Amino acid sequence: MSRHFRIDDARQTLVLAAKGDRLPQVVYWGARLPDGEDLDTLHAAHAIDVTGGMLDENPDLSLCPEATRSFPGQPGLILRDSDGTPLLPKFCYQSHSQDAALALIYSDAANGLTLTFSFAIDPDTHMITCRTALDATRPVHLHWLAAPVLPAPQHADEMIDFAGRWIGEFQTNRTAWSAGMRYRENRTGRTGHEHFPGLIVPCRGATNTQGEAYAFHYGWSGGHRMIAEELPDGRRQIQWGHAARMETAPATRFETAPLYITYSDSGLNGCATAFQRHLRDRIVTWPKPDSPRPVHYNCWEAVYFDHKIPVLQDIANRAAALGAERFVLDDGWFGQRDDDTRSLSDWTVDARKYPDGLHPLIDHVHRLGMSFGIWFEPEMINEDSDIHRAHPDWVLGSEDQTLGRQQKALNMALPEVRDYLYDRMSAILRDYPIDYIKWDHNRVLPMPDAAQTRGSYALLDRLRTDFPMVEIESCASGGGRIDFGIMQRTQRVWLSDSNDALERLRIQHDAALFLPMAVTGSHVGPRHCHTSGRVLDMSFRAWVAAQRHMGFEMDPRELDETETATLKEVTAWWKANRDWMCGADILRLDSADPAVLAEQQLARDKDRFVVFAGKAATSTQISPRPLRLTGLDPQATYRITLANRNTLHRLSRGTTALKTEALKLSGAYLMNHGITLPWSFPERMWVVEGQRL
Ligand code: DGJ
Repeated sequence: MSRHFRIDDARQTLVLAAKGDRLPQVVYWGARLPDGEDLDTLHAAHAIDVTGGMLDENPDLSLCPEATRSFPGQPGLILRDSDGTPLLPKFCYQSHSQDAALALIYSDAANGLTLTFSFAIDPDTHMITCRTALDATRPVHLHWLAAPVLPAPQHADEMIDFAGRWIGEFQTNRTAWSAGMRYRENRTGRTGHEHFPGLIVPCRGATNTQGEAYAFHYGWSGGHRMIAEELPDGRRQIQWGHAARMETAPATRFETAPLYITYSDSGLNGCATAFQRHLRDRIVTWPKPDSPRPVHYNCWEAVYFDHKIPVLQDIANRAAALGAERFVLDDGWFGQRDDDTRSLSDWTVDARKYPDGLHPLIDHVHRLGMSFGIWFEPEMINEDSDIHRAHPDWVLGSEDQTLGRQQKALNMALPEVRDYLYDRMSAILRDYPIDYIKWDHNRVLPMPDAAQTRGSYALLDRLRTDFPMVEIESCASGGGRIDFGIMQRTQRVWLSDSNDALERLRIQHDAALFLPMAVTGSHVGPRHCHTSGRVLDMSFRAWVAAQRHMGFEMDPRELDETETATLKEVTAWWKANRDWMCGADILRLDSADPAVLAEQQLARDKDRFVVFAGKAATSTQISPRPLRLTGLDPQATYRITLANRNTLHRLSRGTTALKTEALKLSGAYLMNHGITLPWSFPERMWVVEGQRL
């Protein structure tokens, strides 16, 4: 007897099948199958043959591969009984239900264990959300629990996962599939710059715009483990879960975070748009969904810890004149925070810097028509703080631990710590009209601990319940905490501390594999970049920021007339386009020139688009290679114009068509041949607007 389950949307089908009462395995995942497909036959057809050197029957690559069934790879569950004895479960079918979601329940009566797998598919975003839960009749110790285990495609030569560092987030790694395992484990206790929990498996020949690809994201902020393993028989498995041994106490229930998976038949972009749409339209909750995303001003790189009300008011005047709509007061307003050695956790306004509290600054900002946001780093504490002196026992980890940015983490599993933070933060939110928090997290944890992440989530959830109109930005020294778990509780990410537009161009390009424009903060930095020393043209800095949720972070007093005019112009352009761009898909283009990093933001109705073609380096050839667009209606005619042609005269001498006029071209031409852009310097951006006629 065979049991099978099928879930579909318009572009993909996932079929699970099980022999008798055994755990089910994914026997098909890919392009949509016909409705009438016989799943018994499909299950039978999926079996691999047996030959020399193999067992007499090949163990299933089930949703939780069991060591007890001779599985030749990594098992999906490793646990010990309450007395420490290793448990070796064998699960059998108990029940299932299939309505909006598919739930499969399997139990091991001898060991008193139950496994529950759930799958939900979103027909609009093409995202499948799945997770595994383990229940036990008495407290057990968990070492490893995988979210539902998926097969990886056979017609793939490589996989793409993500590394990174401070000011260098979202670096793609391409690794060839081979026998054995690629094992990524993040034991830092936060999502991390180094380990964004995502994986894309492109099938042979896939590019940004075409071919098949499979993608995975583990929505958890505490550190994860990923296993991509090729078994001796050639099958491939993908496992995701919390980093091993993060559950430090025995318990009767454990649950993985949601694993988000999707299949694409339109290249990496099919995966990217599934993640972008799902994050923006299903995961993030927007306090004011109908309000435009405001242009930010953040004062960090202008003043750092040196807060003086008249200076901040002057900066606010200039920021508002440039077009800013939200003023964010960064680190330095509380305790005695004159540098980063002290005061974290003393969340009271510094009366030396703000003798009348924050009102004079906030009132000023409001008079300028901007809203007001404020920085916190709630989970952290400096030894030099009143709270550390009063409650050294609130710290996570040992007393003699290595500090990170001179700070320790608070133990967020302690209810009294969360209550203290809630009281201090809610007092600030009640005392002042604040509609935005930049929530920072600037060090890794002394050890991974799932209870810490759950504690952070609980504090966020409580604040959000009581202050539902306050938006939150997730920052962790830039992009150290970006994942769908934190994004369920926040509305924006500070993608990177790099305000170097050249570096940002690349980081944004790769982050768009998962992140939509609406949540991705991007600021125009200082003329002399503080993290790279580069000096970049204002036009380039402004257009790179205009690719995402735009803001400014330089000292506006440094701007000359030309820079001011350029920034005002680009900001006005962004404001005129942000509403449709916020709902658009970001499609990475297959640029024929490796020096050009290009993307096309395409409205959901495909009626308009904008192409950002960033020249990251000098090309090897003289003339720009045509840039092929994507996702257009081949039969439709589009009017395309160069949005920033006013910068042309400084760059080249020719009189090509696009330089002088709007062009009317078919979608077929634009996708098959591409746009021929004018010549330009490196570190410049061409912006092309398109409208269906
Ligand atoms: C790290 C963040 O990434 C910066 O943007 C800034 O908020 C500093 N922390 C403040 O300490």
